[in-house]
Amino acid sequence: MKKKAVYIGMAVLAAGSILWGCQEKEKEAETETREVQIGVAVYNEKDAFISSICEYLGEEIYEYEKSHSGIRIRTEIVDAGGSQQEQNQQIERFVSLEYDLLLVNIVDRTNAAVIIDRASEAGIPLVFFNREPVREDIFRGQEVYYEGSDARQSALLQADIIADTFQEKPEVLDKDGDGMIEFAMLEGESNHQDTLIRSEWVLKGLEERGVPIRKITSATANWERSQAKALVDQWIDEYPGEIELIICNNDDMALGAWEVLEEAKCTDDMQVVGIDGVQEVQELVQKGKILGTVLCDTKLHAKALLSFIDAFAVRETKAEGIELEDERYYMIPMDMIVQEDEVQ
Ligand code: BGC
Repeated sequence: MKKKAVYIGMAVLAAGSILWGCQEKEKEAETETREVQIGVAVYNEKDAFISSICEYLGEEIYEYEKSHSGIRIRTEIVDAGGSQQEQNQQIERFVSLEYDLLLVNIVDRTNAAVIIDRASEAGIPLVFFNREPVREDIFRGQEVYYEGSDARQSALLQADIIADTFQEKPEVLDKDGDGMIEFAMLEGESNHQDTLIRSEWVLKGLEERGVPIRKITSATANWERSQAKALVDQWIDEYPGEIELIICNNDDMALGAWEVLEEAKCTDDMQVVGIDGVQEVQELVQKGKILGTVLCDTKLHAKALLSFIDAFAVRETKAEGIELEDERYYMIPMDMIVQEDEVQ
């Protein structure tokens, strides 16, 4: 691997003293700061979940530097604005600048080979996060990893939130008392692993738990609040009184759905359930306004990325000390966020 760490000499001049008319030689103490360079490429910085990970990463790095004197971690965060071509160029630039580690939130997860081959040729370790390339690609290079959460687990936890409510208080979800939950689903980007797996497994989870459901409609809102708002607005007119639950692949879309229901004053007729556990949704859950969400803690994702920075760029021990599954995967566990009994 190319040489990396940049050393910054910091000359600290000790105050000279005058003795017997002779000037005592000024003492010069020199401390060295080692700088590592991390390239962070995100698919779209407007994405609420991704920007939260980046924000926490900044905080984690700040804390890390405080407790590791002599180490400076420089991160350059670039936004692909949804274009894989743009992201490939950004990675090309990081490689030409000989960065120490690349953290990549890839735009098109089915198209990772170019980036992997480029980083591998240059001997730069690569960590994909949140948007998971296919397994063959992850194992295509020597130092290629994935940091994220298990999409199936998030879906099963979401199914548990719905099933627990249906068992304990069926009237919350089955408004018309026909013994089943009529639902609509707001999906994320169509080729994202979380969209595909969450949409499928939440329904499997409900089936396994014996919850009768009937789909009224579904559509993609690309993870976005504004697109979710437009869809739910349309659904309210199209299916009056039919939908009892809106299952959302993420929290930003859950917020969009909830905002429309609130404006239309039909929050009592329809429930909303999300995934991510963003602060705003957690608060609405605690107020009894959103049924629940699955906490995919963005702070934990940032800490995980920092542990790759620490191992690969600072300590240069490769993956030593990082707890990986299947040699290449760092998975963050999740948890349910549900309403307190008294607010339901
Ligand atoms: C999150 C979404 C986010 C998406 C971006 C998903 O894991 O749940 O909120 O928009 O990743 O890739």
